[in-house]
Amino acid sequence: MGISSCVLGSLLLLVAMVFSVVSGDPLVPALCIFGDSVVDVGNNNNLYTLVKANFPPYGRDFVTHKPTGRFCNGKLATDFTAEYLGFTSYPPAYLSQDAEGENLLTGANFASAASGYYDRTAQLYRAISLTQQLAYYKEYQSKVIRIVGQDKANAIFSGGIHLLSAGSSDFIQNYYINPVLNRAYSPDRFSNILMKSYSTFVQNLYGLGVRKIGVTTLPPTGCLPAAITLFGSGSNQCVPRLNSDAVSFNDKLNSTSQNLQSNLPGLKLVVFDIYQPLLDLITKPTDNGFFESRKACCGTGTIETSMLCNGRSVGTCSNATQYVFWDGFHPSEAANQILAQDLLEQGFSLIS
Ligand SMILES: *[C@@H]1O[C@H](CO)[C@@H](O)[C@H](O)[C@H]1NC(C)=O
Ligand SMILES: *[C@@H]1O[C@H](CO)[C@@H](O)[C@H](O)[C@H]1NC(C)=O
Repeated sequence: MGISSCVLGSLLLLVAMVFSVVSGDPLVPALCIFGDSVVDVGNNNNLYTLVKANFPPYGRDFVTHKPTGRFCNGKLATDFTAEYLGFTSYPPAYLSQDAEGENLLTGANFASAASGYYDRTAQLYRAISLTQQLAYYKEYQSKVIRIVGQDKANAIFSGGIHLLSAGSSDFIQNYYINPVLNRAYSPDRFSNILMKSYSTFVQNLYGLGVRKIGVTTLPPTGCLPAAITLFGSGSNQCVPRLNSDAVSFNDKLNSTSQNLQSNLPGLKLVVFDIYQPLLDLITKPTDNGFFESRKACCGTGTIETSMLCNGRSVGTCSNATQYVFWDGFHPSEAANQILAQDLLEQGFSLIS
């Protein structure tokens, strides 16, 4: 995309957003979300899993100042996305009590921390596998059909945006620490397995009438504070091996997506690059008003996430706004806001 069409895209988007705010209608009928902890808003709260974030200090800067299950001090990137699209509420966690009746008509969130493209990643942590997320989505569709009838429901499914954000847990919480896996497969072959699962997922959504899908790339996994601590061999720098695996994965994601897009008529499939925007924040924090991108806010900032990031963690920062990372694996609300603005510019074709 050239600079001028990019500017034009942003301008049109701005006009569309203003219009949507004025008219009170969101730009698309619904927003549905799938994936891992980067986008989970509380589906893990009631599961028998250790991977949760429904206790302080998680959520301390959220709208309600309460933990919700989001792996963040405040809003996720997808929460900002929902706001930018003109929604007045966030898609509810599908397993929560909020996911009922009329609330379902503007979408739902099926994501589960420690899930991934590879179903066995989710099984390891008793999270909701992508296959099960799809099964819940089918159930969701039948509920929507019951409420508004088939025709209106079809318009919601085809017009709604469906976002998928996965892969980090497959690598960090499974492949790199699982000798069975990393002896059996090279990173390249493991990525191919994940791509197969991704293709199947997209084809299944398409078969269910979905026409607008966005998928995020892997972040620079080698720069996550916990990854530097675990895999950096004592160095304080991003782990090159992990970042190069992420880049190769992202290339495959891109070419697989282009294939899917050309084989499935009428499908709009956008690959959202979060690798470069997050890497920019990490390598040039002060350009964006941050001062800390190596250490996370929670605890010592080197490893903590989930249970290890809790109310008694020693060292937790008092103000996360200048930290790129909230915990050892997840960006802060301030970083999420910047990432979400980037997503918005990249996602114009899903709205028009
Ligand atoms: C995907 O490929 C297209 C065309 O080859 C390129 O313009 C785009 O930047 C790539 N996106 C990512 C996220 O790598
Ligand atoms: C955190 O710091 C920012 C400026 O860096 C300030 O605007 C904000 O009010 C502070 N938040 C809290 C909770 O102290």
